[in-house]
Amino acid sequence: MKDLLATSIRCLDNQLEVLDQHQLPHKEIWLPCRTADDMIDMIKKLQIRGAPLIGIGASLLLARLAEDGMGEADLREAASRLRAARPTAVNLMNNLDSMLTALDTGGPDALPYTAEQLFEEDVRLCQKMSANGANLIAAGSNVLTHCNTGSLATAGAGTAIGVITALQAQDKHPHVYVDETRPLLQGGRLTAWEMQKLGVDYTLICDNMAALLMAQGKVDAILVGSDRIAANGDFANKVGTYSLAVNAHYHQVPFYVVAPYTTVDPACPNGAAIPIEERSAQEVQGVSGSFGEVLWSPKNARVFNPAFDVTPAKLVTGWILDNGVFDQEQIAQGALLH
Ligand code: MRU
Repeated sequence: MKDLLATSIRCLDNQLEVLDQHQLPHKEIWLPCRTADDMIDMIKKLQIRGAPLIGIGASLLLARLAEDGMGEADLREAASRLRAARPTAVNLMNNLDSMLTALDTGGPDALPYTAEQLFEEDVRLCQKMSANGANLIAAGSNVLTHCNTGSLATAGAGTAIGVITALQAQDKHPHVYVDETRPLLQGGRLTAWEMQKLGVDYTLICDNMAALLMAQGKVDAILVGSDRIAANGDFANKVGTYSLAVNAHYHQVPFYVVAPYTTVDPACPNGAAIPIEERSAQEVQGVSGSFGEVLWSPKNARVFNPAFDVTPAKLVTGWILDNGVFDQEQIAQGALLH
């Protein structure tokens, strides 16, 4: 396979490596990824994460297995185990479907080229979404974002953070409120790290501070990513997104979801049909990362820990996709079906 390099995944001299996002922002450690079990483990632990990137990671791994001589039946079995690693982000399923189609038509030899194409396509999709979104946001805006949707979540510049990156590149100087994003702190650890690397002016807040900022008129727009957009425009994203959308609606703050077509699931009629991953109690009972592990609640505290929630289409101002920006009327008329 040709050399491929992104912020948090790389394939150099046919060695696939993942930047361990669990260790960020304080330690930048690249982990080798050689087997389906390696990749599944990293996806489950969120060492590699973000809807587009887990799809890219799974495809690159299958390509590497094919290059190492794995036969067709074993490749199919690995693909089916990778598909089950996380249930919500449809990008994982879409990318694996593309790999299986390549396997059907061209055999194992077709996989490296297909994985390269998926990687390079994701970079282009990020550029398109970012440009579409940057056209909507005025210079000097205060933008609020949730979770991490940047170069740590895609092969390119990102989705919502891609828009912020484009604004910065156009000298529109956004200021970004970064939700810390409990329980796993993808905002506080990863988005803050990305903002710093990009030189974007940002302020880190706890998730429960967003409504106050909106009430004070300090938020001009909210930009979030998505793990799956249903045909009617309802979408799943990191838990807490729904509260932001409700608050944005109340305070009349424009609320945009930014995603590539690989996140749209036309076969999923509405948000109620999106499978939502539930994660372990420990993630809510405490916190862990490069700083170590802290447990603050009683060990047997009962916990509810969905990784994502669903935001209904009626709370969305616009869907910023790679092929354009769509409003509620266009979505209701079936814009996501083609
Ligand atoms: O659990 P994570 O960290 O994978 O969740 C990521 C998100 O919710 C992102 O907003 C989403 O995947 C879109 S990323 C471009």
